[in-house]
Amino acid sequence: SERTLVLIKPDGVERGLVGEVINRIERKGLKLVALELRQVEQQLAEQHYAEHDGKPFFGSLLEFITSGPVVAAVVEGPRAISAFRQLAGGTDPVDKAAPGSIRGDFGLEVQFNLVHGSDSAESAAREIKLWFPEL
Ligand code: GTP
Ligand code: MG
Repeated sequence: SERTLVLIKPDGVERGLVGEVINRIERKGLKLVALELRQVEQQLAEQHYAEHDGKPFFGSLLEFITSGPVVAAVVEGPRAISAFRQLAGGTDPVDKAAPGSIRGDFGLEVQFNLVHGSDSAESAAREIKLWFPEL
């Protein structure tokens, strides 16, 4: 069994899609290990998205992720990292995320793509420690 960090980004919370996303996670058979609504501080945002430092969208990404509360969760199950990435769909909600995925069903713009899921075992370990140091 494996753990992954899931975020429902400010657009997902603002649009009232928290229940929808959690429902999909649970129906898939994944388990919630931690779940919290929280306002993201600038420093956490920078650490979380450190791999994108220097990219043209880095500034607006930080502004977006700190613009309102997010739901942070640790999700567990067999191949949870890849299982949630499949539920989320590709980064671009129109060109990459298939209909039936969270981004494919609810998103239109690459920045406002509703959810985050860790992209590897290394990222998951790093991100879970960052968001839930007590776990
Ligand atoms: P995350 O799960 O949020 O990490 O998404 P991802 O792994 O599918 O994509 P990636 O890590 O490459 O990018 C992180 C986030 O930056 C994306 O989810 C988008 O919100 C945003 N992003 C990525 N590419 C672009 C872009 O070209 N323009 C803008 N404005 N935002 C982008
Ligand atoms: Mg990513």
